[in-house]
Amino acid sequence: MSNIGVIGVGGWGKNHLRVLNDLGVLSSFCDIDEDKVKIFEKRYQIRGYKNIDEMLKNERLDAVTICTPTVTHYEIAEKTIGAGLDTFVEKPLTYTSIEGERLIKLAEDKGAIMTVGFIERFNPVITELKNLLKVGKLGEPLLLEFHRENVWTGKVKDVGIIMDTAVHDIDTARWIFNEEPKVTFARAGKVLNEHEGPDFAAITLGFHGEKTAFIVANWLTPKKIRELEVVCIGGIVTIDFITQELKIDRDEGTIIPRRKWEEPLLIELKEFVKCITERSRPIITGIDGINVTKIAEASTLSHETGSHIYLDL
Ligand SMILES: NC(=O)c1ccc[n+]([C@@H]2O[C@H](COP(=O)([O-])OP(=O)(O)OC[C@H]3O[C@@H](n4cnc5c(N)ncnc54)[C@H](O)[C@@H]3O)[C@@H](O)[C@H]2O)c1
Repeated sequence: MSNIGVIGVGGWGKNHLRVLNDLGVLSSFCDIDEDKVKIFEKRYQIRGYKNIDEMLKNERLDAVTICTPTVTHYEIAEKTIGAGLDTFVEKPLTYTSIEGERLIKLAEDKGAIMTVGFIERFNPVITELKNLLKVGKLGEPLLLEFHRENVWTGKVKDVGIIMDTAVHDIDTARWIFNEEPKVTFARAGKVLNEHEGPDFAAITLGFHGEKTAFIVANWLTPKKIRELEVVCIGGIVTIDFITQELKIDRDEGTIIPRRKWEEPLLIELKEFVKCITERSRPIITGIDGINVTKIAEASTLSHETGSHIYLDL
């Protein structure tokens, strides 16, 4: 059985604690916030640390998950991978693609597994969509329209909406089309002044042929929206990432397959544990991580310059 430590147990990391504990692989955790250390030590009856080095020195860990703010990912992952630990880094892999490239090289040198938390790939509704497209009844997907909108929670301060939020849909678009985009054009802006970067953005990613993904993300909409419409040659698929409902509209009529809701984080972390145990290649690789960051960087540049940015990935 693997021993896994969680680094950063804030809004999202606390879910990693719960799921890894349910899977029987939670070993310890670390957070610079002493109050959180006390709360979760009590809840899970394990030792928590305020300092990563101390955790790495005292615990016999096989792996860690990193759930700290984006700008800290590189420094922390460099430490854990450098110590030979398999490392799951929450999205986005790193703040800059250069940092991501260094991590890939380090993981190769150390023989450590490194993966990135693009959770939507493990959302059962996206798995169902991929299977549906594979069967081919709907024909080729041509247009993707994503909406990822909610009011700013006050947590993310280090990056803007593109790097924090749109990256989910950038990755899912690559996953659905099974290729990298060739060009990006983005418009973005800022209403709130309490965090880095923009808080609303519309990104158009151009893929091979005229295939296109349109990604709308913002921290202004007063309700949580996580939706996708996939226009295929032979019909439209509409997806709600939250309810995991999938609707197929074709000439013949509408179908909403009945399915059981499953927690994407549980599926994602089970897959990480499997990779650690079997030494297998993760579904989301370091290359996925840096390519998404490169697309987010190019989209940011597009918004800053008002130009299309061509990509060579
Ligand atoms: N996959 C998803 O759906 C999803 C959802 C939310 C957040 N995230 C990602 O998870 C990460 C954390 O986001 P969050 O919303 O939980 O942020 P948060 O601010 O709520 O929590 C971050 C925690 O990290 C701790 N921390 C900061 N620096 C640290 C350090 N050097 N060592 C140890 N602990 C440190 C903070 O004290 C805090 O408790 C981000 O990378 C974010 O993009 C992913």
